[in-house]
Parts: sequence; structure tokens; C-alpha cells
Amino acid sequence: MKTEFYFFSGTGNSYYIAKKLSESLTDVQLIPINTLDLSKEVESTAEIIGIIFPVYFLDAPDIVKHFIKRLKIPNSSYTFLFENYGGMGGNSLSNCAKILADKDIKVSHTFSLALPDNSIIFPISNDSVKPLLAEAEEKLKAAAHIIHLQQTDSIPKKKLGISLLSSIMIRFGKSYLGFNDLKVNSSKCNGCGLCTKVCPMKNIELSQKIPVFKDKCEMCFACVHHCPKESIKFRKMKAKNHYQYTNPYISLNEMIEKNK
Ligand SMILES: Cc1cc2nc3c(=O)[nH]c(=O)nc-3n(C[C@H](O)[C@H](O)[C@H](O)COP(=O)(O)O)c2cc1C
Repeated sequence: MKTEFYFFSGTGNSYYIAKKLSESLTDVQLIPINTLDLSKEVESTAEIIGIIFPVYFLDAPDIVKHFIKRLKIPNSSYTFLFENYGGMGGNSLSNCAKILADKDIKVSHTFSLALPDNSIIFPISNDSVKPLLAEAEEKLKAAAHIIHLQQTDSIPKKKLGISLLSSIMIRFGKSYLGFNDLKVNSSKCNGCGLCTKVCPMKNIELSQKIPVFKDKCEMCFACVHHCPKESIKFRKMKAKNHYQYTNPYISLNEMIEKNK
């Protein structure tokens, strides 16, 4: 059965979900959303389609919603949405399901999973990562079973209060914290260029060995968490120890290769 999992991931959690699910199923193609040409329709004839993404500001990332708008799939396909988040998923599933519903595509199942928070403003302790991932592994086995059996469920309802909170959080995250206004400490940066490779948006270039950010930042924080010199920060980010997180089951090479 033709099966495609589309995913977007900055620090590997969503990639981990896609990979784990695919290991329990057969012949799954993993497709990074960031490698698709979204200026035109993305057509798929798969019978099982999964869309796997992190939650940003209680919603799905813009690139994920944009991708779903471009997606053309048979309405007979088994389609699932899989969100993951640090604390609270908000309306991401209902918002994505609505975009599909407007195209007469019914979401067959939705899944939610708590994974380590990469937003930096809510620090994670190293001790919490292992148990959270162990718990996640069990939940992913159960989710893979549901997908294998093509079971269906109802879509979570959109909550208006959450939408309001989401728009406040987006404004706060962008205008005040500067989540999409990343800065490099040039005295720390060693010009290794790793940030240019892990950025899923190809939004970073080196100029005289210093990263320069263009205007397509999705705020995934791949560059912030992967920088070996901890030299990339958002505008209001306070100096903190051990703030960097990347999913331990996804290698650096996998994070780079998925962007090619
Ligand atoms: C800009 C930004 C906004 C986020 N907003 C939320 C949020 O609203 N709720 C939440 O629970 N987690 C939030 N998170 C945490 C991520 O959803 C979570 O860590 C996710 O597992 C990251 O997935 P990835 O490793 O595939 O990028 C946010 C992270 C970032 C970078």
C-alpha cells in the first residue's frame, strides 16, 4: 500500500515520529515538507498519507499549513495529522483539518504527542528527556497500530479562546522576543557553516564566514540548537546554560540530509 509521511522538523522530534512510525509499517516514504516546491500543487496518489509537525504558538507552522493548502490527494486516502508539542497543542489539528475539509478531504485520525520543548523560553531539564522519549516510543507503537488498521476518529474542535491566545503569542514571539530575528555573536561564531546546513528553509548564508539570515525563517530554531559554539540567539534570549536540545534518536547527518 503506497504510504507517504510528510514532515517538518527543526530539532528532530517530528522527524523521530515519522521515522518511528515508518519502522512499524511497511514501505513508507518519508518526505520533508521543506524540500517540496510549494509554488505549485503537491500531488500524491498514496493510499495512506501522514502529516507530522511541531506546534508553534498553539498552531501548526506556516509552512505546514501552506503545504496542506497545496496538497492534492484522493479523498479516498487514509489521511492522518500528527502534532507534537512541548506543553500544549492548541488548535493545530483542527486548523489543519479545516484546510483539508475545505478541499473535501476528510482527516481519518489525529494524533498528539508531548516531546521535549525546543522553544527555549520553557527550559527542559536533561532528566526529563529520557522518560519523555521512552513514553513516546510506546505511544508511537500504539499510533502505528491504529494507522496500520486504518482506524478513524473525530477531529478535535477548534477553541476560540485558544485562537486568541495563539495570535497574542505569535505577536509576542515575533515582535518582542524576536523569534524570527536571529542574531549571531560574531566573537563566538567559528564560521563552521553548520547552521546553513541544518536550516530547513535554506535561510542562512555565510558572508565572510559569518551567518547572514534571509527572510524565510520559520522559527524552527534548528540553527540555535545545533550551533556548536552556542553563538546564535533570538533577540531577547537570555544567556542560559544547557539550553540546546536535539532529538537524540536523529543524527546530525540525518538532519542535514533531509534538507537536500
Ligand atoms: C517558535 C516555537 C513555538 C512553539 N510553540 C509551542 C506551543 O505553542 N506549544 C507547545 O506545546 N510547544 C511549542 N513549541 C515547542 C515545539 O512544538 C516542540 O518542542 C516540538 O517537539 C519541536 O519539534 P521539532 O523537533 O520537530 O522541531 C514551540 C517551539 C518553537 C520553536
